[in-house]
Amino acid sequence: MRGAPFLDELRQWLPSNDELVRPLIALATLTPEGYPDTRHVLLSEFTDEGFFFHTDARSRKIEELTSSPRASFSIAWPQLGRQLSVVADVEAASAVEAAAVYQRRSYYLQVLAWLNDDAYTALALPERQRIWAEFEAEHPFGTLTPPPTWAGALLRPRRVTFWHGRPDAASQRTEYTLTPDGSWLTTVLPG
Ligand SMILES: Cc1cc2nc3c(=O)[nH]c(=O)nc-3n(C[C@H](O)[C@H](O)[C@H](O)COP(=O)(O)O)c2cc1C
Repeated sequence: MRGAPFLDELRQWLPSNDELVRPLIALATLTPEGYPDTRHVLLSEFTDEGFFFHTDARSRKIEELTSSPRASFSIAWPQLGRQLSVVADVEAASAVEAAAVYQRRSYYLQVLAWLNDDAYTALALPERQRIWAEFEAEHPFGTLTPPPTWAGALLRPRRVTFWHGRPDAASQRTEYTLTPDGSWLTTVLPG
């Protein structure tokens, strides 16, 4: 989305990439049967290329994206009268990008990325707590690198919609649609 007409507005709405607290997006992928499948994930960062989230390579969302590399997400700030909705093509993020994001994650989330699998989750809570504490003792803050299962996804937008609410007139959307020649078509729509 290099040179896209909405980049300035995105920068105003989203926190900068180095801020620790990340926005939460409702991310939809498609099941093999074609049903939308939605869950919340952290929006790790956005760049001229698009929007990135990170997850476990063994997760259902990655399985779904592998067979159908399309997604959408939405995020709203009701108090500010804002909603951002994006429809995108998806590809794997580079290992370099994913590793950089991992280093910016909190220590808790770094540990989680190593331990959060089927085998661990099947254990009783005292056992999970013991393993967690042992792992932390063996891998103090600042020493962790991403596990092999750490995966990043890049959402390259095809449609970006800014919803503007206001108390003194009807809400309105400004929508940007990617055209075949690579330019962005701007449309103003009712909210
Ligand atoms: C506040 C919050 C933040 C979350 N952040 C992430 C995230 O950044 N990446 C991720 O894979 N899952 C995250 N999750 C968990 C997902 O919502 C989801 O349960 C998990 O990724 C499994 O999804 P899947 O089976 O559809 O792949 C988060 C959940 C919550 C409630």
